[in-house]
Amino acid sequence: MDPLETDHEEIKMSADDWWKCGIVYQVYPRSFQDSNGDGIGDLGGIRARLDHLVSLGVDAVWISPIYPSPMADFGYDISDFCGIDPRFGTLDGFDALVQEAHARELKIILDFVPNHTSDRHPWFVQSRSARSDPRRDWYIWRDPAPGGGPPNNWLGNFGGPAWAFDPATGQYYGHSFLKEQPDLNWRNPEVRAAMYEVLRFWLRRGVDGFRVDVLSQIIKDAQFRDNPPNPDFIEGQDPFFRWLMLYNTDLPEVQPIVAEMRRVVDEFSDARSSRVLIGELYLPLARLVAYYGLNTEGMLEGVQLPFNFQLIATEWQAARIDRLVRDYEAALPAGAQPNWVLGNHDRSRIASRVGPRMARLAAMLLLTLRGTPTLYYGDEIGMTDVPIPADEVQDPFEKNKPGMGLGRDPERTPMQWSAAAHAGFTTGTPWLRLAADWPTRNVEAQSQDAGSMLALYRRLIALRRAQPALNRGNYEALDAEDEVLAYARSFEAQRLVVLLNFGATPAPISPALMPRQPIVLASTDPARAESIEGSLVLAPCEGVVLGAVDDKGPATR
Ligand code: NOJ
Repeated sequence: MDPLETDHEEIKMSADDWWKCGIVYQVYPRSFQDSNGDGIGDLGGIRARLDHLVSLGVDAVWISPIYPSPMADFGYDISDFCGIDPRFGTLDGFDALVQEAHARELKIILDFVPNHTSDRHPWFVQSRSARSDPRRDWYIWRDPAPGGGPPNNWLGNFGGPAWAFDPATGQYYGHSFLKEQPDLNWRNPEVRAAMYEVLRFWLRRGVDGFRVDVLSQIIKDAQFRDNPPNPDFIEGQDPFFRWLMLYNTDLPEVQPIVAEMRRVVDEFSDARSSRVLIGELYLPLARLVAYYGLNTEGMLEGVQLPFNFQLIATEWQAARIDRLVRDYEAALPAGAQPNWVLGNHDRSRIASRVGPRMARLAAMLLLTLRGTPTLYYGDEIGMTDVPIPADEVQDPFEKNKPGMGLGRDPERTPMQWSAAAHAGFTTGTPWLRLAADWPTRNVEAQSQDAGSMLALYRRLIALRRAQPALNRGNYEALDAEDEVLAYARSFEAQRLVVLLNFGATPAPISPALMPRQPIVLASTDPARAESIEGSLVLAPCEGVVLGAVDDKGPATR
């Protein structure tokens, strides 16, 4: 039987299935598709490209912020949580997007940015107007330190202190990012209530969930103590890491708030489909898993998917990744859904980090591990980071700390759709330059090439969708030699084996690792035959998914 077909009737579907068995795709809206020729991607563009997502086979689209914004941090500085920035479209256009996505069985996930607003948000304008203003306490205001200067040593992620002085009222306000992004005071119940209404506003419009920005930072130390020095800090490193973020990230008080957020989205879940929260959390494993919110009754009341960015940070070696996956699996609370991410709008692209051949192996890893995968737009065609000349830099991170390699423009360049002008992204001038390889590396060209990255992604996604072992099965670590990462995925009688050669030399595979009468269900090498004659030797950077000819599971019968 064709391994891309399965008998789904036999599998009982649950309301959680879409985010447990499905795949999330991140769209950075400025760069996905422009529909009005202003050089900036927009909602009309996303609507026009929904069929690409359908043909890729993903289940949910997470769209980075589309709300009204002065764009100091490209939409992560929001001046109205319940609107659409005119650069991106209108609320009517958003409603149409939700409707058209749902008609294609695609879910829509929005970005929720609870930690801060824009300094132009009416709440902040009011808050800074007077110490006695009723909204004063909606933000974090502190007197200067006794001798003058910022109240403590906390730093902003994008450079300088996390405090900005407001001469009119004589106090500092806190900002974990740019000074144009003042931090909300989540200890204030009115702030919490207002922000939960924001969630409800979008849930009522039909959104299926939220990716929650910098979730671990929303609560700060009540006493505003200085952070201690970081003993591992190396001179020349981003000065932000000079102090350990002991008092302004991952405080215990964040957990009840996460549970509150979860209860709000649960108000909108029903037996057919649940709404999901995905937390942006750059934390070590032990801390990350706390955000599942395991309570004393054994229930998970936190976010369903605390983003697992470990594949971005871990050294790209079989042994390291093997250790990582085993540790992650062991750290997960009972019933928690794992998830994996290879890239996003803040980190260097996978094809640049590991190289184009290895990026194919990375795709197989992402799409065969146990857990919800998140793909970053453009990775499905192997887009790489694009060097941006100094006079074209857009990202405030690069502008504030030039030359340190911190800028995020390189991974945010326009999507490469075709060989038409500007890669089919816009009829105007793109807001950020395109990669030089767009005339050949684009969706249209790769759609016609069975050996392309896009063809590999489509194949792997189709296999994952068809095979219960891959989309919901167990994970079993296998011991392999040298630079090979090996694991099995199984569901009922079905057992698939994944073998990934991270090495630069051919890797002979021990027959003990292989299923009986194995066949190749997928390979990163488009020339690899389905049948295995004699012993199996993986080429450098080659990965395979093996099944058994006599497999009794529904998918391979
Ligand atoms: C994390 C987002 O992913 C990033 O792009 C943004 O700059 C910061 N949070 C601030 O909102």
